[in-house]
Amino acid sequence: MGIFTKKPIHKLILDSSDGEKSLKRTLTAGNLIALGIGAIIGAGLFVRTAAAAANNAGPSVTLGFVVAAVGCALAGLCYAEFASMIPIAGSAYTYSYATMGELVAWIIGWDLVLEYAVGAATVGIAWSEYLNKLLEMFGLRVPYEWSHSPFEVLKDASGAVLHHGIMNVPALFIIFMITMLLIRGTKESAVVNGIIVISKVSIVILFIVLGWGYMNPVNHTPYIPAPSIYTDSQGVNHNYGGIWGILGAAGVVFFAFIGFDAVSTAAQEAKNPKKDMPIGILGSLVICTILYILFAHVLTGVANVNDFRTAGKEASVAYAIKTYMTGYNWLANLVTVAILFGFSSVILVMLMGQSRVFYSMSRDGLVPKIFSHLHPKYSTPHKSNMVFLVLVGAFAAFVPGDIVGDMTSIGTLFAFMLVCAGVWILRVTNPEIPRQFRVPFVPVVSILGIVVCGAMIAGLGWTNWARLIGWLIIGLVIYFSYSRKHSKLK
Ligand code: ALA
Repeated sequence: MGIFTKKPIHKLILDSSDGEKSLKRTLTAGNLIALGIGAIIGAGLFVRTAAAAANNAGPSVTLGFVVAAVGCALAGLCYAEFASMIPIAGSAYTYSYATMGELVAWIIGWDLVLEYAVGAATVGIAWSEYLNKLLEMFGLRVPYEWSHSPFEVLKDASGAVLHHGIMNVPALFIIFMITMLLIRGTKESAVVNGIIVISKVSIVILFIVLGWGYMNPVNHTPYIPAPSIYTDSQGVNHNYGGIWGILGAAGVVFFAFIGFDAVSTAAQEAKNPKKDMPIGILGSLVICTILYILFAHVLTGVANVNDFRTAGKEASVAYAIKTYMTGYNWLANLVTVAILFGFSSVILVMLMGQSRVFYSMSRDGLVPKIFSHLHPKYSTPHKSNMVFLVLVGAFAAFVPGDIVGDMTSIGTLFAFMLVCAGVWILRVTNPEIPRQFRVPFVPVVSILGIVVCGAMIAGLGWTNWARLIGWLIIGLVIYFSYSRKHSKLK
């Protein structure tokens, strides 16, 4: 048995049914859409929109959202087919074990650490930024040194360094708190998730409606800036403006869409997966895309690119409201509180997704047993949660938000490309397996998905490619020195 050994699909389904006590089919299409939106709207919209406008695209960040949405929709269709065919937890890792063999499955599983664990760190850092906005209401704030990584500095207008980051304590704190919740097995009830979803969507709509009248046409001119190189305050060069600016922005705000694939992990609980999975996945995507484009249009109309590059870089929405929308301080405060709660639920879903993927990998023998050890009382993978607390906590405390955010985007884009390829491969190798939902026009959709996601990866620039390659090399070393020898299938 070699590195291309595939896990038979009937074995996959068998393994899952003895592991997860038969889940009940209770979720409707509406529930699935709510689940998706709960996992989707977060730091991508409230923090990275401004970062993409500042570094890449100015107002044309809205076009970046369009490109990212197209890539997600194509990948989303492929996720829906897999989810309806292999309706068990484990997501892209599980799908690829069945279709492309163990080595590719390992690569995806390892790559998903970027999506889930590093993604949780990104949202934790964004949480820290909005926490400071909340504290400012009471005249307090965590000092710059203790709310930023050692790689960040605050400069004044002349370029002189005012403060130097040491460690992001609030980001570490929220990761710690949510890990503790996860270990206790506190399940987000449908009610809590529902409240968080309603408050997040209301805030977005409120900002669009109230901010619309405060847009300054000057900020939208030109809508697509002329191509140039922008060097940010940390000395990193970005392609700004033009088509590369839009693609770069797409790669950055792509982060805002991550999470819709979480819907696919609930396939076992959907009442009517054939109809409801695609509606759940694509429905939450469509709703978020419309909200995102309008939101980005208003945000870049209210505040200008220079704001996003300097003082308004952090907690950009609250900043834009406070600075330009006189009389709406209450809205800025409300937004801040809602965002803090909203981010917490995103972190929860991501950390949970991470432990689920490593749980499956551990049961397959690809990572040590510690990752599938369950707590005697709470039945949660508590040791796994603790290991990831250390890893995610380190990223949250010591790496800048932009870097972990881009790493999350590039890692997830890579996983999407493999899922698009997987659907096509499985149509050729196993055409007989019943598929409750079939992607139309395969392989055209698969190829387009790979091209659009590949274009976003291209737009993210060579520093991010190097980070992805470095991450994958570390993964390969672990695979060949540990996982291959311990694989259960072997
Ligand atoms: N889409 C999620 C967010 O933007 C990950 O926070």
